[in-house]
Amino acid sequence: MGRITLHQGDITKDAEADAIVNAANSSLLGGGGVDGAIHRAAGPELVAECRNLGGCKTGDAKLTGAGNLPVRHVIHAVGPVWRGGENREPDLLASCYRRAIELAAEAGDTRVAFPAISTGVYSYPLDDAARVAIDATREALEAHPGVEEARFWLFDDRAMRAFEAAL
Ligand code: AR6
Repeated sequence: MGRITLHQGDITKDAEADAIVNAANSSLLGGGGVDGAIHRAAGPELVAECRNLGGCKTGDAKLTGAGNLPVRHVIHAVGPVWRGGENREPDLLASCYRRAIELAAEAGDTRVAFPAISTGVYSYPLDDAARVAIDATREALEAHPGVEEARFWLFDDRAMRAFEAAL
């Protein structure tokens, strides 16, 4: 089964991944946080490609090329906005990780970099999000042996600690 590794810093600097997962919104046309960083590093080619996708539902993901990023693909996943936890947030967040790994497997991407989806602007509590992310990723890696590594990029110490605990 594929392994899960934890890294601290900026996901756009990961040159060892084949695909980088973006924490996008349903328009897929860019935004702040990690989405802004990915689009800035990729250049205008990325948003041009995203314009043809017709958006993406919450809990789903779509794959594009990666523009100037040092990877093959960007997988745009749309996490849920945290609204108290009774609105299918855990299911929708788990679905993002599952769909991203499915798309990576279909595209032949063996190493996939993930941010902590929904834990910024979308306010998902970090410890809960980390548990959902790790559990869903483990299950998806088991189902898709072609994906050998899920590389989590945690932006700060607090996120790193939450993911270490979940792992
Ligand atoms: N590398 C790794 N992680 C990062 C980076 C980076 N360069 N920048 C931020 N993070 P967020 P969301 C962390 O807000 O909560 C956008 O506007 C950050 O500390 O980027 O899913 C989209 O367009 C946090 O832990 O994504 C959507 O509208 C995590 O990435 C909305 O925000 C996710 O924070 C999506 O919100």
